[in-house]
Amino acid sequence: MKNSRREFVFSISMLAASSAFPIQAFAFDKSKKLKVALVGTGIRGITFWGKRLMDEYSEILEFVGLSDINPSRLEYGKTYIGASCPTFTSFEDMVSITKPDLVIVTTKDSTHHEFIIKGLGMGCDVLTEKPLTIDEVKCQQILDAEKVSKKNLIVGFNYRWSPYATKIKELISNKTIGDLVSVDFNWYLNTYHGASYFRRWHGEMDSSGSLWVHKATHHFDLLNWWINSEPNEVFAYGDLEFYGKNGPYRGKNCRTCNHKNECAFYWDIHKDEFSKKLYIDHEHADGYIRDNCLFREDIDIYDKMSAQVRYTDNTILNYSLTTYSPFEGWRVAFNGTEGRIEAWLDIPYFENTSIDEAEKHANEMAQDGGEIVSKKPIVVHKLWQEFETIQVDMEESGHGGGDKRLQDKIFVNPEVPDPFGRTAGSRDGAMSVLIGIAARKSIQSGKPIKISELTDLEPQVRRT
Ligand SMILES: NC(=O)c1ccc[n+]([C@@H]2O[C@H](COP(=O)([O-])OP(=O)(O)OC[C@H]3O[C@@H](n4cnc5c(N)ncnc54)[C@H](O)[C@@H]3O)[C@@H](O)[C@H]2O)c1
Repeated sequence: MKNSRREFVFSISMLAASSAFPIQAFAFDKSKKLKVALVGTGIRGITFWGKRLMDEYSEILEFVGLSDINPSRLEYGKTYIGASCPTFTSFEDMVSITKPDLVIVTTKDSTHHEFIIKGLGMGCDVLTEKPLTIDEVKCQQILDAEKVSKKNLIVGFNYRWSPYATKIKELISNKTIGDLVSVDFNWYLNTYHGASYFRRWHGEMDSSGSLWVHKATHHFDLLNWWINSEPNEVFAYGDLEFYGKNGPYRGKNCRTCNHKNECAFYWDIHKDEFSKKLYIDHEHADGYIRDNCLFREDIDIYDKMSAQVRYTDNTILNYSLTTYSPFEGWRVAFNGTEGRIEAWLDIPYFENTSIDEAEKHANEMAQDGGEIVSKKPIVVHKLWQEFETIQVDMEESGHGGGDKRLQDKIFVNPEVPDPFGRTAGSRDGAMSVLIGIAARKSIQSGKPIKISELTDLEPQVRRT
């Protein structure tokens, strides 16, 4: 794929233009390739932000440094990406020696703020994976650092870019059902994908901020974007009553477990060659166990979650997240002054084909697809009229095709205007995690939490 340097510089400034703060175009030397440094050589870092950038955009960018706390996985990551740059266990050394234009942050969630703040402070633009961060204190620190640095911060929200999510945005923006009044949103994680969060660091509040933040940041970002208002108040319930200490038995990890035969969640990581090469081969260096027991006692996140959110324009949201559903899918319904929209993906009872849940999880994580695999319906039911079904071309891989479109927007077709405003800056990143953070606080206190109490961001009636 051929991409010009000019297009790339323009694309980053276009992408950042949706941020809440004054954004300037990157001041790159246009005669040279963009210098990219990446911290966090785990699966997301080396596949989506590593190998894919090398494969698709190496004419306009180059990796100048890779960093991770695990030196062994770092070397594997370098080989997997196919980069020829130096590697560093110290982020500061990497940035001061290689002087990147852009830092990409793909470490575990609780450490994002550290590299965002240091990266901005050391004069780099920063692109971070979601979630922006895991608590309100770190969120404020990031917002302050961005203002002071005058550099740009972009949050990689990919779900907005799937054609299905975009169609919903279009229908709502066109006032197909009048003004929005309320929204019902339910997300069901299955016993493959849902369980996978409980096998590793995502199961610890201090690392992931819980699935209220790690996972729901995607959902709350979609909802904020669809509703086009900012959240004002959150009330939530949640509990841990399936995974963790609730399990009937437990072992050190799946590989060594005495309950392999009776545990429905037994996972033979040795059958997954990539997971073996990325995690098992390097666990001696940091003790990161990828096939941890999901019934281990120190899991302290919620596995069922429910919240009500009142938006600043008075739209009311009912939200729930389930982590051990027999199938993986979601549904949303929008009530408006002139009708109702219903949308859903992967509800097996609504499909004519049977779905293999394990295969679905593998497809979802894959980056190599992109072909249209099916049409998916959205129902529009206007008051006093027959309902209408709109069919949307849908992809299965890379988060419904959102992954690929997000990068293409940044690197390939930035000049094409985006009427749907799918680009996300720091304010979008903050507003989506603040709902989850408020939900946690609401569960702990038993009270509704105002978003304005968490940081200095004042929620707006309309997103800017
Ligand atoms: N947008 C999406 O759809 C999507 C999908 C998957 C992951 N992600 C995000 O990508 C990030 C990485 O997820 P992953 O699944 O690749 O996790 P992972 O555990 O596979 O990789 C994380 C890497 O970060 C490294 N790391 C941890 N702490 C560090 C530190 N202090 N300094 C340097 N390196 C450190 C680890 O050694 C590991 O190599 C997460 O923030 C996650 O939320 C986003």
